[in-house]
Amino acid sequence: MPRSNPNDFGDVPQGCSIPLNFARSSHERNYSIQIGRGILRTIGSEIASRNISRVVIIADEAVALSHSLTCEKSFLDAGVETSVIRVPSGEQSKSIQQAEQLWIALASLNVDRRTAIIAVGGGVVGDLAGFVAATFSRGLTVWQVPTTLVAQVDSAVGGKTGINLPCGKNLVGAFWQPSGVIVDIHALDTLPSREYGSGLAEVVKYGMILDPTFFSWLESHCNKIRLRDPDAVEHIVSTCCRLKVHVVEQDEREETGLRVILNYGHTFAHAIETASGYGVLLHGEAVSIGMVMAARLAERLGMIDADICSRQEFLLTSFDLPVTSAAFDPDILLDIMARDKKSVAGRLRFVLPECIGKVRLVDSIDHNIVKEVLTASSR
Ligand code: GLY
Repeated sequence: MPRSNPNDFGDVPQGCSIPLNFARSSHERNYSIQIGRGILRTIGSEIASRNISRVVIIADEAVALSHSLTCEKSFLDAGVETSVIRVPSGEQSKSIQQAEQLWIALASLNVDRRTAIIAVGGGVVGDLAGFVAATFSRGLTVWQVPTTLVAQVDSAVGGKTGINLPCGKNLVGAFWQPSGVIVDIHALDTLPSREYGSGLAEVVKYGMILDPTFFSWLESHCNKIRLRDPDAVEHIVSTCCRLKVHVVEQDEREETGLRVILNYGHTFAHAIETASGYGVLLHGEAVSIGMVMAARLAERLGMIDADICSRQEFLLTSFDLPVTSAAFDPDILLDIMARDKKSVAGRLRFVLPECIGKVRLVDSIDHNIVKEVLTASSR
């Protein structure tokens, strides 16, 4: 998606709606990502016009008193019966125990097939509430309302839902497309800086895997991005969503080899998150380290020059993201990686860069080379 002048904000919209259309699918599964400023205040009238009887907001405890209240008020003002369920913040909530509590809570609220789940929060709540919506009563409508940068630029779009097992992240889940995604970039104003930085790792990912112009734009707008300049933030959110939509429309279920590129850095990241204990690192922090490892592995395999590794590391460091991991036994990490969903018959497969803006899936890499990279990237 090249822009003529990477130094201005190009076609940054003051709010926009990005359609997501599945080519071989019924129209009901197509939906829009609405991006705007202050749009949580009108979410009630937006969703009330759909065929729903009531809503259940599932919200991260940390946003329960702000964004979820705004949503609740908006639904009540629109005359929609509304219940709110709070979920403890943090990766530990993506568990079977938490999913069970939500299933039981939904049962006690007597929800019916026309009840819509509204997932308000970051990636954890989006994945968990999406999974509960996919499984309760054989499937309820869900709207994703991401309030963190990770969720706005990545996890709320594309229908991946899931929970973790102690032995591996996101090992249980379902593809369950939402009926819509409402992205209020004002929600990021109050996001703690560590959470905001974590989202920037996924933003860098989109430049690395798909869009060299966007990557250069990130390099030249670091300060504005760090200061959360509203136009810069809207530009990064809308660009990442457009790039993701382009991929997901063509390969919804990660079957053709296209969607898998969105997992750049994630095989390493998931192993580090699992080995560290869920919640020790934020997801984006692990992705940052994972992308550094993936680039170094590509360099070690002769796929890229060292300067690409350096540019990526410099950009991640400019966003205060970690680029080295705590030291883990490489055999333990390899064992976790062998259970990764991208592995086939225990053979490790990694998404590796060929240049900035292009990656490919590489199969059957020698475990000793992976161990070397793991060791070189730990402190
Ligand atoms: N976060 C990767 C994907 O949605 O496919």
